[in-house]
Amino acid sequence: KIKESSSNDPSEEALVATLPTREGWSTPLTLHNNFWLRSHMAQKFMLVRDNFKPRRDDIILATHPKSGTTWLKALAFTISTRSRYDFADADHPLRTSNPQRVVPFIGAVGGDLDFLETLPSPRLLSTHLPLSLLPPAVSAVGCRVVYLCREPKDALVSRWHFDNKMSKGDPITLDDAFTMFCEGFSPFGPFWDHYLQYWEESLARPQEVMFLRYEEIVSDPLKVARKLASFLDAPFTEDEEKSGVVDQVVSFCSFESLRNLDVNKTGGAERAGGKIFIQHSSLFRKGKVGDWVNHMTKEMGEKMDRLVEEKFKGSGLEF
Ligand code: A3P
Repeated sequence: KIKESSSNDPSEEALVATLPTREGWSTPLTLHNNFWLRSHMAQKFMLVRDNFKPRRDDIILATHPKSGTTWLKALAFTISTRSRYDFADADHPLRTSNPQRVVPFIGAVGGDLDFLETLPSPRLLSTHLPLSLLPPAVSAVGCRVVYLCREPKDALVSRWHFDNKMSKGDPITLDDAFTMFCEGFSPFGPFWDHYLQYWEESLARPQEVMFLRYEEIVSDPLKVARKLASFLDAPFTEDEEKSGVVDQVVSFCSFESLRNLDVNKTGGAERAGGKIFIQHSSLFRKGKVGDWVNHMTKEMGEKMDRLVEEKFKGSGLEF
């Protein structure tokens, strides 16, 4: 069973208090080593780099938030545990828990560092932290990483809706969200540095780091499921292919299927540190590619595209 993090290091707390903190999103963010972290979580995240002990056979699902973390967790969990849990069973963990819960977040929700030590190998873990805030041993020992990001305009629209659901104050306007996101001021932002760190890692360690985009899963979920299964050392067998298991996994993890499970419709909330709770239902909004056009002006779209082009220029990464 996953337990909540309770580690409290007073020296880290004092350090967080000295770091730049800014308001604008649903909670204040604190700048730590060039990345903006939710202030109420910063202390826990700052402990990860020195205290999380990666193992050679760990598999880390690293995502930029609002890129489909919930979906990736559901797919990876269903695929890697399918010999243990029949996903047709009423008590499959994804029918009783939200996908965010079945894969612990390193150092955060369900992923207390002491607790992670007790998990048997191979561990399936997750994080929104940029690579630079994970221990260097993740690269040095060769942990496998699946990274997921999303077309930035859609990621922003998803972030904006989500933060407005979490916000207890006045609604955040899209104009403000847009400006903050383009300044690099967003949870785990700047988004471009987050994408680029993992992109470069995937070029340096192609066998061990799989770089995915949300749009790629939408356009061919079967292909991604097969790729993921091989990467997780659990390739689909010929028998499974013939009996339609790949289709069943994909349809079980689809937006409609997960969204309509009781646990995700009415099943409560995840504690995201402090007094912040994330309603399960708010993790399933629309699940579409290109929804930005319904919210942003053409000019905003063009401005963001120019920023993205400039930031990713020469990297080989394009959107
Ligand atoms: P939208 O807000 O555009 O609908 P994360 O899980 O990283 O927080 O990302 C949330 C985004 O993924 C939301 O996007 C959500 O609707 C979408 N999503 C969640 N589960 C999904 C699934 N099974 N298939 C496709 N999209 C999904």
